[in-house]
This record gives sequence, C-alpha cells and structure tokens, in this order.
Amino acid sequence: MAAAVSLPTDPIEREPIVDLSHVSKDYDAGGGIVHAMRDVSLSIARGEFVAIVGTSGSGKSTMMNILGCLDRPTHGTYSLAGLDVGARASDSRAIVRNRVIGFIFQGFNLLPRTTALENCELPLQYRGVGARERRRRATAALQAVGLGERMDHKPNQLSGGQQQRVAIARALVTDPPLLLADEPTGNLDTRTSLEVLALLQRLNRERGITVVLVTHERDIAACASRVVTMRDGRIVSDVVQDAPLDAAAELEAVPPPDAGGPASQPESAHTDLAVRRARMPVPARVYVSMFLASRLGLAFVYLLLALAGVAHADAKLGLVVAAHALGLLAEARRGAQVARKRLGYPLTNEQRLRLALRYTLGTGAAAAALVLAVTFGKLFAVAAHLGAVSIVALLSDHLAGRSAPVSVAAYAVFLAALVLLRYLLLALLGPRR
Ligand SMILES: Nc1ncnc2c1ncn2[C@@H]1O[C@H](COP(=O)(O)OP(=O)(O)OP(=O)(O)O)[C@@H](O)[C@H]1O
Ligand SMILES: [Mg+2]
Repeated sequence: MAAAVSLPTDPIEREPIVDLSHVSKDYDAGGGIVHAMRDVSLSIARGEFVAIVGTSGSGKSTMMNILGCLDRPTHGTYSLAGLDVGARASDSRAIVRNRVIGFIFQGFNLLPRTTALENCELPLQYRGVGARERRRRATAALQAVGLGERMDHKPNQLSGGQQQRVAIARALVTDPPLLLADEPTGNLDTRTSLEVLALLQRLNRERGITVVLVTHERDIAACASRVVTMRDGRIVSDVVQDAPLDAAAELEAVPPPDAGGPASQPESAHTDLAVRRARMPVPARVYVSMFLASRLGLAFVYLLLALAGVAHADAKLGLVVAAHALGLLAEARRGAQVARKRLGYPLTNEQRLRLALRYTLGTGAAAAALVLAVTFGKLFAVAAHLGAVSIVALLSDHLAGRSAPVSVAAYAVFLAALVLLRYLLLALLGPRR
C-alpha cells in the first residue's frame, strides 16, 4: 500500500528554511527552572515533510513555538528563511512570521460566528489586502482544500475534518513557504486524519511547501519524509524515511463513512490502517513494565503481610492468590498505559491477545523452570524467599506425587486461563483513546 512520495531534489529548493543552532529554552516555573529544550540543533531544508514525535512533555510544542516565532530561545540561534529571528525585536519577528509561516492547531482555532470564507480572509485583512483580492484568495484557498461548496458555513456547521481543512486554507492563504502544525489530527478519527494528511502531502509535493508537524501517532509519522524524535528536551533520533506512506493511497483503502454494507462499520475495522496497527509489534518496554508492575503489586501485599507479622512462607493460599491478583491488576493497568504511550493509540484486540499470550508463555516458561528446580529441591530456599514464585511453589506441592502428564496438562490449563484473564484485564483497565 505504501507509495513513495517524491521530494524536490533541486539543491536551491533544498536549502534550509529552518535552522536551529544549539537552542535551549528554559522556563522559570516558580518551583525551579524547567529545561524544555536542551542544546537542540536542527536544520530543515525547503520541501521537507518532517514529523516531530516524542512523549508528552518532551519539548515538541516548545520547539514548535520557537520555530513559529511565538517564543524566543533562551540560548542559541534560530534562523528562519535565512534571517536570524531570535535576535529581532518582537514586531519585526511578527512580520517575518506572517510572511513565512502558516499555523495549524489541534483545536482548529477558527472564529466561531464567522463563515469559512471570512475565517480565511482574516490573515489577509491583518496584512491590509483589499476586500476583492481577499475574497479571491480566500476562495482559491478553500477550493484548494476541497471546500469550495462550504464557504458560507460557520464552524459549527462543519465536521471536524472540514474545520481543520478551513484552518489549513487559512494557513495557506498568505502563500507561506512553511506550514507548522501541532497535532493537527489530534482531534480527528482515522479517516479524517488521513484526509488532512493527504492534503498536507499534496501541498508539500505540488507546491513545495515545507511541512513540520507534531504528532503522537506512528501512522501519521509514517507519512513524513523525516521523523525527529524528542526526549527530555533533546533530539534523540532523526531518521529519513525513503518511502513514506502515501496518505491518499491509504485513504482509498478506507471505505467512505456512508458506503453502506459491512465495510462501513464504525472504527473502520477492515481498513488497511487498522490492519497495520494490529500488526504493529508491541514494544518490548511494555513487557518489561508489566513485569515490574506485577512484582510491585506482589511486593506490596507481601510487605503488608510482613508488617502484620505473617512470614510469607507460611502464607495461606488465599493470601497468595490475593497478592497475585493485585500483581495481575497492576501489570495490566501499567502495560496498557505504556502501550498507549509508546504506540500512540490504545492496544488493538489482536495486539492485546499477542501481548497476553507472549507475556504469559514467557513468564510461564520461567516459572516452569523454577518449578523443576523447586521439585528437585535445589532452589527451594531461594524460591521460597522470592514471594514472586510462591504460587508456583504451592502448585508444585499440590502436584507432587501426580504423574507428569497430569502436571503438564494442569499447568497448560492454568496458563491458558492466565492468557484469557490478562487479555480481558488489558481491555478492561486500558485507556480508551
Ligand atoms: N510556559 C511554560 N512555563 C513553564 N513550563 C513550561 C511551559 N511550557 C512548557 N513547559 C514545560 O516544558 C516541558 C516541555 O513542554 P512541551 O509543551 O513542549 O511538551 P510537549 O512535547 O509538547 O508535550 P505534549 O505531547 O504533552 O504536548 C514540560 O515539562 C512543560 O511542563
Ligand atoms: Mg505539545
């Protein structure tokens, strides 16, 4: 499905439009200084399509505000289209900003009681463009985003995707060479996100407009020709994607919302995007965080037991089961949260099943190895002191004296039940969006 998006190769078009050199941004947040950006150097050539990704608080919006001349670096220099904007007074920065940059926001930021056409005319009005010329250019911009028929609609008469397209038209109306978008698809569903992205890709390809967008979604970042990842105010990776996804081609595979028939189920369950999401491997960190959370849950109960004066080696089955139940709850909650953060969307059912299966088999195999060790008496002392394996010890006691096939079958049933339980808990305790 992926199709290559060609970028301008002409060296003149490829000269940097954005050049951050050793930029830091500190905020004085009362309780202390927040280092929102730390020594960031980034050069973006004309015609590039760059996605900025990173966890919440990593400094993406801070960087966008600096790129957009809405804020100034604490240290370092920023040159925009060859002009050192960091050094300029704020009026002069505003002039550069209005000439060079178009902004698109997550919340669209349209004036509510004003038609699409009037919203698009606004930036031209600020520039003192005459009424007739304003109307002509705003009309052309709305037609370019496919809203020629909706020009007299007010924002509340438009869908989310249409409102975002009005916002893009408003950003385009001044013909800026650079579009900056902070989570432009954050409020939109899959199909509408792809529509907006296809539009941005077309503007990038056909008009050579440089696009820099912030996103939490891997699918959206997959459409960029370059992905910059931030962490703790620094750029930790900067990767060129030779064959970015073509949003328009992806969109063709998504059935229109009113197509009727089974293909038009909500959630577009049969779309390529949904399939790709489902196939996306669950990051290793999710497994690790689940394991740690379950140990913490267990440790918590054993700590309570210890405080209550019950040595856990003597703990009754009920208490051990309670500890493990808390471990299961903790790991499901944490695993689902970490997955949401790392993937940019909640786990799909398929991913949940895969996660539950692999995690259970992995930890189950480790536990089985311990059962064998326990059974042969070698590690009993160690195992008994690791609260973590007490249920395994109980199980092995319980099964002692039974035939091997019965033990193995009982263990297999136990694991299967665990897989199902984890799958359900991941769904029940995970974030919805
Ligand atoms: N005006 C401010 N005053 C103080 N601290 C701020 C200010 N703006 C941002 N910060 C801090 O700077 C850090 C980076 O924030 P920023 O908004 O750039 O993150 P982000 O990557 O955009 O996160 P998100 O994905 O949640 O939008 C955070 O720790 C934030 O609390
Ligand atoms: Mg942000």
